Amino acid sequence: MKLLAPSILSADFSKLGEQIKEAEMAGADIIHLDIMDGRYVPNITFGIPVVECIRGITDLPFDAHLMIVEPEKYAVEFIKAGVNMVSFHMDATIHSHKLVDQIKSSGAKAGVVLNPATPINTLEEIIYYIDYVLIMSVNPGFGGQRFIPQTAQKVTKLIKLMEESGRTDIMIEIDGGVSRDNIRYLSELGINIFVAGSSVFRGDIAQNIKILKEEMTIYT
Ligand code: DX5
Ligand code: ZN
Repeated sequence: MKLLAPSILSADFSKLGEQIKEAEMAGADIIHLDIMDGRYVPNITFGIPVVECIRGITDLPFDAHLMIVEPEKYAVEFIKAGVNMVSFHMDATIHSHKLVDQIKSSGAKAGVVLNPATPINTLEEIIYYIDYVLIMSVNPGFGGQRFIPQTAQKVTKLIKLMEESGRTDIMIEIDGGVSRDNIRYLSELGINIFVAGSSVFRGDIAQNIKILKEEMTIYT
């Protein structure tokens, strides 16, 4: 399965509702929400009130990427606000297993995020419990950064670990620097969910989505 997840971090916030609608009409599959607290990452974005507000304008699944310390304090609140997928950075919490359990028992999919320098073997135990892995292909905090090529190698290592642990059903998401120039290559590596911020919201949203979706699709 190949899904495009526009990140509203690069949207024009004065027209947020309109731009989400435009992305939906153009074929976006998921809306990616970058939640930053100014502590885990050096930037602050938005929180639960904004999520509640935009929940009413689209039926697309919401994917919250929590770049916050102590994500266990807010994960369930985001789900109550209408988020369908929640991912967190394992080094931001002490009890990752417990948090995965809380997310899943609140009715959402649970994912863990790996920073560019975090190795795949960090997942060796948690892999039995999660629904998806988010591989960061830039250092988290800002949109519009350049893709770090080495991070693509982690996908192959992750697929190997998924096979060894019998969890080939796990979805692989990639986030950061995804563009029309690398999305086909990433798709061929086996990635399922492509987060795209600036490559969707800079310029013509509908046209950008059309090109990205065409490029990420693998015809068999
Ligand atoms: C970065 C965020 C990304 C960001 C991606 O910390 O996690 O989701 O919006 O933006 P682009 O696609 O512009 O690299
Ligand atoms: Zn993100």
